[in-house]
Order: sequence, then structure tokens, then C-alpha cells
Amino acid sequence: MSTRPARIAVAYHSGYGHTARQAEAVAAGASAVPGAVAELLPLDELTDELWDRLAAADAIVFGAPTYMGSPSAVFKAFAEASAAVWADDLGWRDKIAAGFTNSKAMSGDKLNSLVDFAVLAAQHGMIWVGLDAYPGWSKSTASIEDLNRLGSWLGAMAQSDSDLSAEKAPPETDLRTAAALGARVATVTTRHLRGALAA
Ligand SMILES: Cc1cc2nc3c(=O)[nH]c(=O)nc-3n(C[C@H](O)[C@H](O)[C@H](O)COP(=O)(O)O)c2cc1C
Repeated sequence: MSTRPARIAVAYHSGYGHTARQAEAVAAGASAVPGAVAELLPLDELTDELWDRLAAADAIVFGAPTYMGSPSAVFKAFAEASAAVWADDLGWRDKIAAGFTNSKAMSGDKLNSLVDFAVLAAQHGMIWVGLDAYPGWSKSTASIEDLNRLGSWLGAMAQSDSDLSAEKAPPETDLRTAAALGARVATVTTRHLRGALAA
């Protein structure tokens, strides 16, 4: 039986603070699950400490704004640098993985960023966890406040109006969806950890 908490790392980039709000919501959702702890790891500087913390994590949730239809260049620099972990006998093998992204358009080609995260996770031998939520805001009677209003399964999406600061965007509805992804990752990771210790 697990005697230590499941460690969830939220590895993210945010150019102007909007995606950072989403990252905080993922971490809050994860840490609300009993037996799990979450930490926020900004990717602006690729320090030894960052790599050590990622190595110690049981799950890594990747996050970045969608810029020009894919994860931001800062995130891509991190992804390319992670080739050193890959080369060291798949150092992230069997860690749980998930992803989230934010952009200004409702679609904005955000799916492409989530696919990018999932492929990165697959190359590392990680185990991908998506969002277990029906699409909200998809009936005539539905509300923008519905969970998963942007209707994504591969990961959590958020939308930030381009004229609003990070204090006001993304909206609470998308932050709730981000928290739901964090909670799911934490739940799956605690089970995974228990199973690995029992095996
Ligand atoms: C260089 C650049 C490219 C962008 N490309 C897209 C895009 O492809 N799709 C979209 O919907 N929004 C796009 N945006 C808008 C950002 O995704 C949006 O402003 C987001 O909230 C920024 O998040 P951040 O504050 O975490 O950096 C782009 C913004 C920048 C600066």
C-alpha cells in the first residue's frame, strides 16, 4: 500500500499569464484529491532543479498556450530538451501524463497542441489520461457554465478573450474544467502508484 502521496507535476508555459491561471486550476484540482500533492513547474528556465522535480513526479501534466496552432516555442524548447530524459532509458516511462491548453479563439486549433502533448508523452513511454466529461454547452438548453464547454476529451481546453487580462480570463467555467482534469489525473495516479507498489 502507498505510504507516500502521489506527486503531480504541472509543467507549463504561459507568455502573458492566462495559461498560468489554467495551470493553477489543474494543480488545485489535483491537490484536492486525498493522497495526492501537486506542484507548479514553470518552464521558462530549464534548470537542473526542474528536471529533478520532474524525475521525482509520478504524473506530469503538460500545459502551454496555443501559439500559431501549436504549443508555444518555450514549451517546444522544453519538449526538445526532454530528449535527454528519453535517451536515458526512457526516464519518464510509466509516469501518468495529461495536457491542457488555452487560446483566444474558441477553437484556435487548440486540439493540435493537445495532440502534440500526447505524442510527446507517447514518445516518453508515459500513460495518457484524458478528460472524462461529456461536452458541455452543446444543446439549445445548455450553458456556457457547463463543465467542458469547449468539448474536448484529449485534454482540458480554455479560451481567453484577447482584450482581457489574466485576472479576468480564462473564465471560471474553463478553470473548473482544468480542475476536473487535475482531479482525474490525481485519482488515476494514486491508483497507479498503489498498483505499482503492490506488484
Ligand atoms: C504568437 C502568438 C500566436 C497565437 N496563436 C494563436 C492561435 O493559433 N490560436 C488562438 O486561438 N490564439 C492564438 N494566440 C492567442 C493566445 O493563445 C492567447 O492570447 C492566450 O490567452 C495567451 O496565453 P498566455 O497568456 O498564457 O500566453 C496567439 C498569441 C500569440 C502571442
